[in-house]
Amino acid sequence: MPDALTLGFSTFASPPKGVLVVFCDDHLKFGPATRKALAPTGDLVARAARADRFTGKGGSALELIMPEGLKLPRLVVIGIGKVADAQPKDFLKFGGATIGRLPKSATEATVLAELPSGTMSPARAADLAQGMRMRAYAFDRYKTKHKDEERRVKLKVNIAVSDVAAVRSAFAPREAIADAVDFARDLVNEPANVLYPEEFARRAGTLRKSGVAVEVLNIAAMRKLGMNALLGVGQGSARESRVVVMRWNGAKKDEAPVAFIGKGVCFDTGGISIKPAAGMEDMKGDMAGAACVTGLMKALAARKAKVNAVGVIGLVENMPDGNAQRPGDIVTSMSGQTIEIINTDAEGRLVLADVLWYTAKRFKPKFMVDLATLTGAIIVALGHENAGLFTNDDKLAERIVKAGHDTGELVWRMPLAPEYDKQIDSKFADVKNTGGSRWAGAITAAQFLQRFVADKTPWAHLDIAGTGMDSRQSDINKSWGSGWGVRLLDKLVSDYYEK
Ligand code: BES
Ligand code: MN
Ligand code: ZN
Repeated sequence: MPDALTLGFSTFASPPKGVLVVFCDDHLKFGPATRKALAPTGDLVARAARADRFTGKGGSALELIMPEGLKLPRLVVIGIGKVADAQPKDFLKFGGATIGRLPKSATEATVLAELPSGTMSPARAADLAQGMRMRAYAFDRYKTKHKDEERRVKLKVNIAVSDVAAVRSAFAPREAIADAVDFARDLVNEPANVLYPEEFARRAGTLRKSGVAVEVLNIAAMRKLGMNALLGVGQGSARESRVVVMRWNGAKKDEAPVAFIGKGVCFDTGGISIKPAAGMEDMKGDMAGAACVTGLMKALAARKAKVNAVGVIGLVENMPDGNAQRPGDIVTSMSGQTIEIINTDAEGRLVLADVLWYTAKRFKPKFMVDLATLTGAIIVALGHENAGLFTNDDKLAERIVKAGHDTGELVWRMPLAPEYDKQIDSKFADVKNTGGSRWAGAITAAQFLQRFVADKTPWAHLDIAGTGMDSRQSDINKSWGSGWGVRLLDKLVSDYYEK
């Protein structure tokens, strides 16, 4: 898809082509270059705004077809509200709204990236461009027929700015992030007949060309390590399980890395504790955590982040064949702890148990964050607006919450406590893989994970069942698989862990 939108930058001097997009505040005030461009229309915009009750509210838009005085097919005025209140994440939205207001048939547009004051910082102009990129994503690789009104044409958008070179360099890291979000979205949207563990590992392997060291652990390697919790989940599938280790070294060699861990269940039937048919197709997205981690590693490498980072993903398919794991089975995890399987549909925590243990022991990271579409219960609690955050470290919590606020990828902290932990004590083994009841399902899942955090490593778990797939549609996301978490964690790294 990315080639459906081409972005370019120029100065305000070049004459606008195609649809013209401009910005105004909540007093319908424009910058000087915009006023000049709109001069031939006289008071047309002011009259149209009155007629349409357009007030310049943030994210709202006024559209004029064939505006009198301009030799352009269409004029779009995007409101930015009170300029002083507009945050970086709002500029992403304005960029997204820009693309959303262009007719599907448009082939060319010119955006005047200017605030009423006459200036827009290069960073905010680059945010606009990133928002455009994110909005333009569509997963249409399997559409062989298109309805006329949604025929996708190549769209060229030129963004006029005051300092082209400065905006270009501000856009470079943002483009890396947008590419990484697209990459993660593709992984989540791909069906499971195409994206199974080995294929996922192959796609992660493409990060090598960005300078990421990628290791793939096969079944024999995992057996040797004792990853029987993960292997037990995959044993009912015709597709082999994999663990992928990705390393980006952008800091000093002896600097401890930050670590990210992803649940990569390429399809979750529930296994022998099989899921009902309705909605089961969504379980192709049960690898959204692994997709985010892979996208994040891609972003860090592409923008040459000054950090040592490792990404470790556990890739399995949870299927119910004759070799499948049974309820009542007991497995010995890599940590040595034995796990009684109560419900084979609580498989994500089994995968993560071994990957968490492995990551803490091998890399001794500064902290580790895992992402997982772990429980339906977190969707009941938080809907699609917030991911659930569970952590053993208040400082890490604060930083993740702040990064969530800044990026708009929101997280809400949930509790961990011994009263929940004792609900996963097992009659026959050290721990069982579900709590005794449905209550607090997202918390008992997190308690399970915490038992596999070695050496008191600072750790956070993000339950992204509600945000990673079947995601909230917004100005910057029209995709089922959102790529949620790439921007959040990139921000966490850049704000606190680079140099
Ligand atoms: N992948 C699911 C969680 C899920 C459900 C994600 C709906 C997105 C949408 C997970 O593996 C699962 O099946 N969890 C069970 C746990 C239960 C068996 C304790 C659940 O949430 O019902
Ligand atoms: Mn499951
Ligand atoms: Zn699952």
